[in-house]
Amino acid sequence: TWTTGNVIEEQVAAIRELVGDKRAICGLSGGVDSAVAAALVQKAIGSQLTCVYVDHGLMRKDETQQVEKDFVAATGVQLKVVDAEERFLGALAGVTDPEEKRKIIGREFIRVFEQAQAEIIAEAGAEGRPVEFLVQGTLYPDVVESGGGTGTANIKSHHNVGGLPEDLEFKLIEPLRKLFKDEVRMVGQELGLPEEIVQRQPFPGPGLGIRIVGEVTRERLDLLREADAIAREELTAAGLDREIWQCPVVLLADVRSVGVQGDGRTYGHPIVLRPVSSEDAMTADWTRLPYEVLARISTRITNEVKDVNRVVLDVTSKPPGTIEWE
Ligand code: XMP
Repeated sequence: TWTTGNVIEEQVAAIRELVGDKRAICGLSGGVDSAVAAALVQKAIGSQLTCVYVDHGLMRKDETQQVEKDFVAATGVQLKVVDAEERFLGALAGVTDPEEKRKIIGREFIRVFEQAQAEIIAEAGAEGRPVEFLVQGTLYPDVVESGGGTGTANIKSHHNVGGLPEDLEFKLIEPLRKLFKDEVRMVGQELGLPEEIVQRQPFPGPGLGIRIVGEVTRERLDLLREADAIAREELTAAGLDREIWQCPVVLLADVRSVGVQGDGRTYGHPIVLRPVSSEDAMTADWTRLPYEVLARISTRITNEVKDVNRVVLDVTSKPPGTIEWE
């Protein structure tokens, strides 16, 4: 029978056996999946694990600080923070194709992990055992939708599945590969992770990079970060966090429309709100948010975010639309 206790016990034993006296690193994204994967592997191999948080500049507001504080406080893991903003934005310059963005982001993650690997070994000095393993919080739906499942077409290259380079130096540990999100949350709870981490809404590894339709630039990211922060603030204030699965906020950077703001004509960009309700992200419905909440978000975003003069609501279920726009 399936219990979280069994899953944890099984995985811990398997990971111990696999890793032996070697080392592993785990990329933390701030999301539930990587947090639970890290906590599980830490339970198995303790200080042989180092978590790596890659600040790729595609994060939402305050995300980095949250990982640095909350997750470390809850688990006591060894954490290495890598500032890789320039590297990622450089690699993404001029790129507009969604799959190309995803592949680039996946590849750059791995390059950063390889660099971190070298540093971890150097820091460990003479006792340095090789870092052979990379832990990833890949879930069952990620595997299926990246074409790795049973006969399902390739929908998107999830950054930690289809986005991996072919010359990967690491062996992968993916302890959540057979689980759905709700099961991952139960495992996280059983492992003693705090509510704020376990109940967090999903956020994709490629971050805001796949929420800008068009080229990703720092200026656009800053703009989207502001709009996203406003939407999240208002949804939380309205007590809707548990009701919605997640609410991507998307910048249509290549679209402009005419508006009137203050005492003049503007020619700005639309922001899309994509609130969805879902059980496992394989299918989803658009969430019927209260009009007052939508109105508040719209007013605030158009007032407070430069170059945005329109807020639109995505009323598409999945299928036919995916949750993210790219
Ligand atoms: P889609 O857009 O495929 O999203 O309907 C389904 C769920 O997966 C998240 N997502 C990702 N998560 N790496 C991740 O860790 C990715 O590359 C990725 N792409 C999408 C998305 O936010 C939603 O919860």
